[in-house]
Amino acid sequence: MDVHESVLDLVGGTPLVRLRTAGDAARSASAVYAKLEYLSVGGSSKDRIGLRMVERAERDGLLRPGGTIVEATSGNTGIGLALVAARKGYRAVLVVSDRASGEKVATLRAFGAEVVMRPGGLPREHPDHPVNAAARIAEETPGGWLAAQYDNPANPEAHYLTTGPEIWRQTEGRVTHLVSCIGTGGTISGTGCYLKEVSGGTVQVVGADPMSSVYSGGDGRPYFIEAAGHFRHAETVEDPWPQSYHQDVVDRVLPVADREAIQAIRRLAREQGLLVGGSSGTALSAALCVGAEAGPEALVVVILPDSGRQYLSKYFDDAWLLRLGFLDGDATHPRVADAAPTDEHTPPLPYLNTRGTVGEALASLRAGRDGGAPPVFPAGPCPVGPERRPTAPELTGSVSLEELEAAVHNGKAAPTDPVADRLGAPLPHFGYGEPAAAALAELTERGLDTAVVLRDGYAMTLTDRAALRAVTE
Ligand SMILES: Cc1ncc(COP(=O)(O)O)c(C=O)c1O
Repeated sequence: MDVHESVLDLVGGTPLVRLRTAGDAARSASAVYAKLEYLSVGGSSKDRIGLRMVERAERDGLLRPGGTIVEATSGNTGIGLALVAARKGYRAVLVVSDRASGEKVATLRAFGAEVVMRPGGLPREHPDHPVNAAARIAEETPGGWLAAQYDNPANPEAHYLTTGPEIWRQTEGRVTHLVSCIGTGGTISGTGCYLKEVSGGTVQVVGADPMSSVYSGGDGRPYFIEAAGHFRHAETVEDPWPQSYHQDVVDRVLPVADREAIQAIRRLAREQGLLVGGSSGTALSAALCVGAEAGPEALVVVILPDSGRQYLSKYFDDAWLLRLGFLDGDATHPRVADAAPTDEHTPPLPYLNTRGTVGEALASLRAGRDGGAPPVFPAGPCPVGPERRPTAPELTGSVSLEELEAAVHNGKAAPTDPVADRLGAPLPHFGYGEPAAAALAELTERGLDTAVVLRDGYAMTLTDRAALRAVTE
């Protein structure tokens, strides 16, 4: 019979499929083959490490019958661990950032795992950071074992033992370039190490990284591609890179803008019938560059880690993309951009620094009111963010001149207090491509006047009801 005795036999073993590329017709570019990790039984490359980490822990006596598997995970590693736990009879407790997609969290619960939600975007030292919360739960749970994918040698090892050999066998040793994004670093390190060893060092290993991620030299500010790259909170002090990431294996790392990655996966679905996730778009964009550069003799393999079905409410949802400023919208009707241009001539968004004091905020806001030194603040609340141009999730609140003056006057605040202690709700935000009329209606309904305008997820400028009304009339 052609059957399998266990679901665990269906981990990995994913196919390679050739992508049609712009260089195909001209025969000017390399063949690019995509490794479709969404065809692994749990739907991602992380099944491989879920199985390997558990088997290693069992072998080393760290995980015993009746034990509890604990991990901090943005989703896919959790799914891999949860399905292995289900098959082997372990309890699974997974700590998930509230930024992970709803589909991933629902999947974890469907496998019977317990999900503990913690806020995303916290400094690494914060006790509620998912990694710290998971470590605490593992310690306090009898029979608890922390998978620790960021530092567990079984993570790169899983790819060294499976992903690498599969690619070598499938391409009959003809692969010349490997392209993969880098999260924990396990995929690129394990697969890359195997392919370099077996090819006598000729296979080039290229990392693909969201533009602001630290691996390609960014400052770690937030980006919108889930699970790839390395985010670094502005207030994080110590931020060691994962031990699962072996930099010596990687020849270079290419930064890819979120917009480019998102457009790449939307096109791939529509033009080639492959529905993959956001990090696949980052890897794919980099692979197409590598392919165009490397010439017709090369054979590029790009690892696409998971399916687009997990992100239907994000990268494949026009409303989500419009709101963050990733789409141009309908230019035949007035758009938010007509009320508040966000091109290179746009003056910087006036906003206050989260780390400043009440006194500094008062001085800036008064200067703005008096028409003094720029930036000229809005009459109403002013957004508060980090030291450089903030992204939407970094606009943590707002303050108004009137409220701050009243607080100081009543003795509720001192000028030396951190302004962060006096924050009201963040201002609403719109993407530059959204219809102006809808934005105006939303502000009116919420009884608010000022809003932040986003392009590519970055806060670019402000708009208000009067400006929106002027372009819609
Ligand atoms: C969808 C997706 N893409 C990319 C990655 C990064 O892979 P790695 O952690 O092996 O570097 C992950 C890992 O969590 C992932 O879930």
